[in-house]
Amino acid sequence: MEIRWLGHSAFEIISEEGVKILIDPFISNNPVCTIPVEDIDADIICITHGHSDHFGDAMEIANKTGAVILTNHEISLFLGNQGIDAVGMNIGGSVFAKGIKFTMLDAKHSSSIDFTEELTTGGNPASFLITLEDGTKVFHAGDTGLFSDLQNVIGKLYKPDIAMVPIGDRFTMGPFEAALATMWISPKLVIPMHYNTFPAVAQDPVVFSNFVKQLAPAVETLILNPLESCAPKFEKEE
Ligand code: NI
Ligand code: MN
Repeated sequence: MEIRWLGHSAFEIISEEGVKILIDPFISNNPVCTIPVEDIDADIICITHGHSDHFGDAMEIANKTGAVILTNHEISLFLGNQGIDAVGMNIGGSVFAKGIKFTMLDAKHSSSIDFTEELTTGGNPASFLITLEDGTKVFHAGDTGLFSDLQNVIGKLYKPDIAMVPIGDRFTMGPFEAALATMWISPKLVIPMHYNTFPAVAQDPVVFSNFVKQLAPAVETLILNPLESCAPKFEKEE
C-alpha cells in the first residue's frame, strides 16, 4: 500500500492490488497541492462532506477517470443532479468497491454544499474507515471535533491501523484534541492533516506529535510534506 498526501485532507491511497482511492480531492484550489488536477487518477473517490475544501475537484476527476464516488446520501443526490453517478451511503453503513470495504462513520462538523450559488444541504459530515484487500484498515477522520465515539466505536470496534486526523484548529480539532483523539483511536500510525493550507489553519505538526508522544506513546506519528508518499507495513496479528 502507498499513501500520498496531496495537502489539506486530500489523500491518495494505492492498494496492494493497485486500486487507486482518492479521499477529499481538493486539488486545483489547494494552495499546497502543486500538481494539476489533470494528473490525478482514481478508481474510487470518497467525499467526507460538502465543504469545498473536501468536495474539491471530485466531479471533474470522476468525469475524466470514470471513478466511482462514495459519499453521503444528500451529496450523492446533488451529484446525480449534476449528471454524475455516485454511491450514496450513511453513517454506520459499508459498501464494497473493487474488493475494498468502505465504512462511513461519524464526524462532528457540518456539511453544507458551500460552493453553489445557494447554500445547499449536504447531509451529515462523515469519516471513512477503509479496509484494504489485505485487511489493513485506514481511518480518515474528515473534519471533526473530539467526540467519544472516536474511542468507543472507532477505536474499540474498528481498530484502525492508520489514522489521518485534522490538527488545524478553528474548523476542527487542534493539536491537543487531535492527540487525544489519537489516543482514543489507538492506531499504529497517525498522519496529521488539515493544517498549513491557509493562514486560518496554520499549525506546527511537531506540537501535535509531541502531544501524541505524551498521551499515546505506542503510536507513531508520521508528518508528511504535501505530495510526499509513504508505504507503511505492519506485522499481521491474529
Ligand atoms: Ni469542513
Ligand atoms: Mn475542511
